[in-house]
Amino acid sequence: SLPEIFLLLLTYLWGSIPFGFLLTKIYIGKNILELGSGNIGSTNVRRVAGKKISIITQLLDMLKGLLPVALFLIFDTGASSPYYIFMLALAAIIGHDFSLFLKFKGGKGVNTTLGASVLLAPYSVFIAVGIYFIVKWRSKYVSMGSIVLAIMLPVIELLLYWFTPTFYFLLISSILIILLHRQNISRLIAGNELKS
Ligand code: G3P
Repeated sequence: SLPEIFLLLLTYLWGSIPFGFLLTKIYIGKNILELGSGNIGSTNVRRVAGKKISIITQLLDMLKGLLPVALFLIFDTGASSPYYIFMLALAAIIGHDFSLFLKFKGGKGVNTTLGASVLLAPYSVFIAVGIYFIVKWRSKYVSMGSIVLAIMLPVIELLLYWFTPTFYFLLISSILIILLHRQNISRLIAGNELKS
């Protein structure tokens, strides 16, 4: 329906707000796209602008995914297709990854996917984030943690609940995360990935 399409577009726009880019610009006057890994995500914000701005970026990027899903769950009248909530979640993630305000460049979607998934797949998120911390701690590579997290999210959901709409949503989101880590994967293989 028309309101449903409008809400998807609005969610895409909301996801498009490049918080990492804006906060780095506002607080330290630098262009994050040209520094560190060039990514707008909280990992690169920490490299470029420090811990405080990075944590704010991370919370806002998570909120990008969480807010539309939470609002839909609160105001859902049951009129939409059962798949609509997953489309909303993907709209926020795609907004973050391919921002309208950055000529369709953007982040890699880890925080936004976690925010969007935490109410839809709380157990899988909890376990995958646990694994992320272990991999990051052992390897010292955030990107390695993110890639393992992306692999584990749909795998855990599958093991817990078998083939559900939530599983397919996590599968699509995870493939997107892994594709957006292509350069990180090349650098990891070449041995010149940025540590932490
Ligand atoms: O989610 C992004 C993280 O895995 C890697 O960030 O800046 O090192 O590419 P970055």
